[in-house]
Amino acid sequence: MKILIVGSGGREHAIAWKCAQSPKVDKIYCAPGNAGIAQIAELVPLKADQYEELADFAKDHGIGLTIIGMDDPLVGGIVDVFEERGLRVFGPRKNAAILEGSKAFSKELMDKYDIPTASYETFTDLAAAKHYLEGLEKFPVVLKASGLALGKGVLICEDLASALDGAETIMGEKAFGAAGDEMVVEEFLTGREVSVLTFVDGTHIKEMSSAQDYKRAGDDDTGLNTGGMGNISPNPFYTSSVQQFCREKIFQPTVDAMKAEGREFKGVIFFGLMLTEDGPKVLEYNCRFGDPEAQVVLPRLENDIIDVMNACIDGTLDQIDLKFSPRTCVCLVLASDGYPAAYEKGKVIHGLEAFRKMRDCFCFHAGTAMKDEKIVTNGGRVLGITVLGDDLRQARQKAYEAAGLVRFSGKYYRHDIAKFEE
Ligand code: AMP
Ligand code: GLY
Repeated sequence: MKILIVGSGGREHAIAWKCAQSPKVDKIYCAPGNAGIAQIAELVPLKADQYEELADFAKDHGIGLTIIGMDDPLVGGIVDVFEERGLRVFGPRKNAAILEGSKAFSKELMDKYDIPTASYETFTDLAAAKHYLEGLEKFPVVLKASGLALGKGVLICEDLASALDGAETIMGEKAFGAAGDEMVVEEFLTGREVSVLTFVDGTHIKEMSSAQDYKRAGDDDTGLNTGGMGNISPNPFYTSSVQQFCREKIFQPTVDAMKAEGREFKGVIFFGLMLTEDGPKVLEYNCRFGDPEAQVVLPRLENDIIDVMNACIDGTLDQIDLKFSPRTCVCLVLASDGYPAAYEKGKVIHGLEAFRKMRDCFCFHAGTAMKDEKIVTNGGRVLGITVLGDDLRQARQKAYEAAGLVRFSGKYYRHDIAKFEE
């Protein structure tokens, strides 16, 4: 079978790497891909928002399965375009991808179906939002642009003045574009965060292993929010009693709620959870694999990923016995200085050859490109150094050693990924 992967980040590299292990796969295409993905797939010079052209490509090249890695095309309806053309595709339709595409929608869904989450109000009018904020007694408060905002549309405001400024930023200045046409104001929660990726076939849901993201740019959770500077799997705080609660009160109820709303969800639901004193609560839903969650979860997946994705499409996920290696996986992101704000591109990356000979250590490319036959930086997050180890300490040590082998101008990374008080 030939497959096509849509996207260009570390997540798509991990997906392509996992697909390449399937005996069912003869050839992998990736649009638009990156320099690392190019080592295992043929790159297609189409962007993720060219739905019709991508569908033409899939038709013309006899693609048996297209996997959509990114949120934007899913929320924009690429799956519907492929399905209308009779093409097999992995990911939710537009009416289900709204679970990530509109925080206003997802909050209302959780409210209606009693799925635990922070209490909230939704606003489409700036003056009304400000009036509401002025009446609040408890701070901090969380402001969220309802639409997609590259993980940046969430503001945690310590007092009324910064909340009023934040509302102005999201709804007035439209700093996150149309994502700020609607805004969710949410209760501030505290606790450990857990990412749980799941496969869903419309009716059944199977969890992949848990993970923990490191969202802030700097050590000890300082600095700006990023797409993720590192990740570990499994998450040590995701105990079996937490898992049991989530299964009963969050995971299956979400799938059932989407079905009841006529928005059958097929693909990956990524549950962003916070373990509060009152129990686990949903912070957000995503309609795709996380990045870098995919990098730490997929190396531990023991099934043929093509079988699992086909089962999601066919509604037969209940027949799949999803298995994960008990080993620990750590991903350390090497980023460009300045990320998540402005940064430079085009810096030559040295030292990548070292990874070819390594076992249990993978270098997933996020923002890289080929220039004059050299691999150069081409994004904020550049590489995800990923290690499978017997425990966190071993995986962490190997990941930091391997990170030292790579050199490029402006390289920066966090020093506390997978570090726990010992
Ligand atoms: P989201 O994109 O909704 O996951 O938000 C990004 C990050 O903001 C989360 O990973 C949390 O660290 C933080 N966050 C979001 N919602 C809340 C909340 N209600 N209380 C505290 N922190 C939050
Ligand atoms: N790492 C968080 C995300 O993919 O949204």
